[in-house]
Amino acid sequence: MMEFVHVAVAVLGLLSLGHSAPVTSCENLIQPREIHGNQLVGKWTQIAESTSIPGSKTLTKMLVETAWINITAANEANTFNNLQIQKMMGLCFTLKTNMTLVNNTLNMVHNYRLSGVLLNTGCPDCLVIYSNNTIGRTAVKALQLLSRRVKVSAAELEEFTKQAECLNLESPAILDSEKGFCPDPALAPGTKTIDLSLSNIMPDDLNLSEKLFTESGMKTILDIVQSNMDLLKED
Ligand SMILES: *[C@@H]1O[C@H](CO)[C@@H](O)[C@H](O)[C@H]1NC(C)=O
Ligand SMILES: *[C@@H]1O[C@H](CO)[C@@H](O)[C@H](O)[C@H]1NC(C)=O
Ligand SMILES: *[C@@H]1O[C@H](CO)[C@@H](O)[C@H](O)[C@H]1NC(C)=O
Ligand SMILES: *[C@@H]1O[C@H](CO)[C@@H](O)[C@H](O)[C@H]1NC(C)=O
Ligand SMILES: *[C@@H]1O[C@H](CO)[C@@H](O)[C@H](O)[C@H]1NC(C)=O
Repeated sequence: MMEFVHVAVAVLGLLSLGHSAPVTSCENLIQPREIHGNQLVGKWTQIAESTSIPGSKTLTKMLVETAWINITAANEANTFNNLQIQKMMGLCFTLKTNMTLVNNTLNMVHNYRLSGVLLNTGCPDCLVIYSNNTIGRTAVKALQLLSRRVKVSAAELEEFTKQAECLNLESPAILDSEKGFCPDPALAPGTKTIDLSLSNIMPDDLNLSEKLFTESGMKTILDIVQSNMDLLKED
């Protein structure tokens, strides 16, 4: 009689082992991963992004067509220069930022502050960056999927969407590589590009918790975009 119980318990144990910790469990998906500086360097396509701001998906889909980033190692150790190249409403924009890697944490200070870690991903050539951002007086959490490819598989997107869900973020905005990319202006001098690096695109007093989709929130964003469009037209 005792033997049956032992066997039954052992079989149950085996069964539960088989079921525990599937790769797609939230516990696994929100696990931070080590970052090595040399993993970061090079060209990345920004595939998808999810944030804690309600409405951010619609806003991103409305404004942003595609985005990529060229990360280069700076002279100082653990310091990187980022060149973000974004296509918005058919126009090309660049933003230069500096980033450091300290204690497995990425830090960026521009007119917003970012502090991020890498999370686990089943995608072999992707980075999933989970960050705390301070924009003006507003704290925003963001999850970004970057890949060496311009497009990832449906299963990889699904995993990212699950990660956003696990972290209680809004459903991700997925950018469409079919819309084409803006070139690195250094390699394509003929391309009209608006450099946002020196402009105060995120005024300190911008309060994003004034819901983006209230009339005034939306107007603030559109004013910012409009003032940059006017700059371009003056060229
Ligand atoms: C980034 O750092 C470089 C020095 O490595 C500096 O010349 C440049 O002004 C910095 N850029 C920004 C946007 O902070
Ligand atoms: C990095 O982490 C170590 C140990 O966790 C800590 O002692 C050190 O102060 C940290 N350094 C920075 C710059 O945060
Ligand atoms: C983000 O902020 C939370 C507290 O709100 C903190 O526990 C976490 O360590 C921060 N993450 C990073 C990458 O700075
Ligand atoms: C990335 O930046 C480096 C350094 O400026 C440059 O040599 C390289 O051509 C850039 N890559 C692309 C794809 O623009
Ligand atoms: C941001 O705006 C909201 C709504 O108008 C307000 O309740 C909140 O106090 C503001 N936050 C800050 C930090 O000013």
